[in-house]
Amino acid sequence: MPALSAITVDVHLRDDDMRAALEHDVRDGLCRRPKAIPPTWFYDEEGSRLFEEITKLPEYYPTRTERALLEAHAVEIASLAGADTLVELGAGSCEKTRILLDAMKELGTLRRYVPFDVSAEFLEDAAASLASEYDGLHIHAVIGDFLRHLDRIPTTGTRLVAFLGGTIGNLVPTQRARFFQALRATLAPGDHALVGADLVKDPRRIVAAYDDSAGVTAEFNRNVLRVMNRSLDANFVPEHFAHVAQWNEHAQWIEMRLRAIGSQRVHVEALDMTVEFDAGEELLTEISAKFTPEGLAAELDDARFSVENQWGAEDGEFLLTLASRR
Ligand code: SAH
Ligand code: AVI
Repeated sequence: MPALSAITVDVHLRDDDMRAALEHDVRDGLCRRPKAIPPTWFYDEEGSRLFEEITKLPEYYPTRTERALLEAHAVEIASLAGADTLVELGAGSCEKTRILLDAMKELGTLRRYVPFDVSAEFLEDAAASLASEYDGLHIHAVIGDFLRHLDRIPTTGTRLVAFLGGTIGNLVPTQRARFFQALRATLAPGDHALVGADLVKDPRRIVAAYDDSAGVTAEFNRNVLRVMNRSLDANFVPEHFAHVAQWNEHAQWIEMRLRAIGSQRVHVEALDMTVEFDAGEELLTEISAKFTPEGLAAELDDARFSVENQWGAEDGEFLLTLASRR
């Protein structure tokens, strides 16, 4: 009889913590000039579903390019890392995870999978389907914020921490530096980090990936307004905001914004707050930074990780970097 898989779930973000963090970010972000809200708030169940739809769009190259890189190099990565525990930050649907889990299984090292995400329902469903696929795998899911709770990553085993999909690019450089330092602090010598990062390329290709012709990214972008409406009893009219995706050459990142179509007054009942938008005024919802292999290696080195290898797609589209904690 096959060994049963066990699932445990650590919750470091309860509903009231999430609510307090959202209240803080909305109060702070909507008073700024320019107005801004962190991208973490895209990912309620509907936002997570929309992101999955984005990953299948013809224009959105990162997911399929990264998957091809993982398929080509997962066994080498798993063998270099020598880990029995795969931790995945911002795991989402855990879709590409199977490639790494299969490689660790093939090498006979696989014991534990630790998916870590803010989006509880989505993560729990994904963990349950993995448990049914991998006999004997211990799944230790963590509901937490990777900007605040990296010290809660379980310490058991030799760990390979995967941060895939280019999510590292959703952090600004100062956040990235703090993130890598916090990650190093939670790891032991010999543990590894695997970072999937999108590379700098022709801006037209990048803009197309964030402004697809089917309008799925536009709906994903507007979803943050629906999250505020539902969670904070706000009255944004999503259709009154246009989706904007613009390449910032100086910062080397794409910016997603929502531009008010006509002037608007929005009330956020739970915060007893009224926000005015001038016609054409924008709300920054996400940055997605693009990297060079050398630039990312230098950021890891600054945080005292040693880069062991980098695997790039032949067309220079996407990059996997494996680094050990020194
Ligand atoms: N790794 C997957 C999903 C990427 S989408 C892939 O490569 O396709 C980004 C994921 O990060 C979402 O699942 C979202 O819920 C999660 N996320 C965003 N901000 C987060 C935060 N601050 N802490 C933890 N998870 C976060
Ligand atoms: C999750 N993250 C890496 C995606 C990205 O490409 O920055 C989110 C996304 N935003 C628009 N499309 C996809």
